[in-house]
This record gives sequence, C-alpha cells and structure tokens, in this order.
Amino acid sequence: MGVPQPAFYIFKCEQSSPPGMPKPSCVNPQTQDLFQHLAQTLMQKGIIGTVQPIRTACMNRCNAGPIMLVEPGHVMYSGLTKEKITEIIDRHIIGGEVVAEYVIPAELWDAPISPEAMMKQMGR
Ligand code: FES
Repeated sequence: MGVPQPAFYIFKCEQSSPPGMPKPSCVNPQTQDLFQHLAQTLMQKGIIGTVQPIRTACMNRCNAGPIMLVEPGHVMYSGLTKEKITEIIDRHIIGGEVVAEYVIPAELWDAPISPEAMMKQMGR
C-alpha cells in the first residue's frame, strides 16, 4: 500500500499589504494568527496528515478576507475568525457538510469558466 494522499487541502491566503495600502488584505495585526490556529486545530484533532493546510498568496477576493479555499469542492470561506475556522473543521472537514453561512457570497465566487470555453471567448 502506498502513502495515502490527503483527503483535503486548505489554502489559506497569507497575503499582507504594507501599512498605508488602500486595498484590504487577509493578514493584518488582528488576523495574523489564523493560519497557526488552523494548523494547531488540525494537529490537536489528529488529522493534520490527511488535511493539508497550505499558505497561499492573494486569491483576488481581498474585500471578503480573511479567506481560505477548501479542496476538493472549490469551497471558499470568507470573513474568517478563529471560531469560524474551528467550526469549519468540525462541520465540513470532519462532518462532511459545507458551512453555508460562512461561504463567500456567490457574486464574488461564481461558477468557473473552463479553459476551453475561455479560449473560445478569446477567439483562439
Ligand atoms: S489578500 Fe487574501 S485574497 Fe487578496
């Protein structure tokens, strides 16, 4: 038997803007320990091996931050706090139910466009 692949990847935006930047960012002094909370909670529950937390750069949903993306499923959570992250781990990652009330609004996260369709739009 081979090494099992993770059941989930959680991509947490870790982008921070320099002071004075008008654009909001997912990491600021109030939110800088959310990734640590995510990783520690997964560790405490003994599921860090099958759930892989990954730090990412900006995913272009800054106004709804802090955000994180759960794969598989393309589920983007927004407005995160430590409490929401713990609840998402319990209900979605362990329980298997998307936490609808913390999912980013649909107008900011609509259905993807396939690469093939995008190429047609561009006339290629
Ligand atoms: S800074 Fe996190 S989505 Fe842009």
